[in-house]
Amino acid sequence: MPPPAALHPTACQHQSTLALVDLMRLQSLRALPTLAVWLAVLCAASPARARRLLDDAPAPAPVPSSPAQPFSLPPLPYYYSALEPWIDTETMQLHHDKHHQAAVDKLNAAVANRSSLWFGGDVSQLVRLAGTDAVPAEIAEAVRNNAGGHYNHQVDAGGAEQLFWTLMAPKDDPEDNQPVGELADAIWAQYDSFDAFKQLFNEAAVARSGCGWAWLIIGADKRLSITTTPNQDGPLMAALVPEPGTPVLVVDVHEHAYYLLHRNRRQGYLDSWWNVTNWEQANEYYAAALANY
Ligand SMILES: [Fe+2]
Repeated sequence: MPPPAALHPTACQHQSTLALVDLMRLQSLRALPTLAVWLAVLCAASPARARRLLDDAPAPAPVPSSPAQPFSLPPLPYYYSALEPWIDTETMQLHHDKHHQAAVDKLNAAVANRSSLWFGGDVSQLVRLAGTDAVPAEIAEAVRNNAGGHYNHQVDAGGAEQLFWTLMAPKDDPEDNQPVGELADAIWAQYDSFDAFKQLFNEAAVARSGCGWAWLIIGADKRLSITTTPNQDGPLMAALVPEPGTPVLVVDVHEHAYYLLHRNRRQGYLDSWWNVTNWEQANEYYAAALANY
């Protein structure tokens, strides 16, 4: 079923919003008069649209890190509404701005003003240390939950360390969204078909009880593997998970990822998620992961 056209922002709306957000990000006195004119014209022409465009704008750029706040929340790489009608705008806003932000805030509170030498200010390094003696005992649980929570959703950790948010994207033909590149070849070679792979992945994701994540990873044998983790654990936590590896694809199966639109129907959410899976990005992570072994 094609997505309802009314739920898709037009190209004009996107371009208008992009221009507006770019102006806001300039944050300079020189830009303020222009921004004021923009808003005045927009509000006069259509107050409802102006409000909706502002509501739909991605979160502002994160503040620079400091010893007290070494981590910050990057904005999404697309608009909150970009994944409609498969993933709804309000869920994206709450998920990113509240749930992910909460993990960042709690992580900062746990590691604030501690020397960052032991993790280099790098959340992926902190995740790798979870469950080891390198993490002070008094913050071990906070690091496990919140470094994991930040890393698993992460937008711009750099290189192949970017995960959940980047692994979704609006698609021209969402109902025929297929793996691409070498990752596609590997999936077909190992699982016989995309449908067979998808079924196994769905079964694993649905079977993960409570909160957690379903992953496609590369293990030390360079083969793909489908695995799941509870809560905010992930495959980089070698000291904590039974099947460590390098992430290629991941879906968040916490209810906060789908509860407004899909209610308790995790399979319905997964069916939608396959329509916005960013296979181009997953293929890049696959290539980077192989190159690192
Ligand atoms: Fe989440």
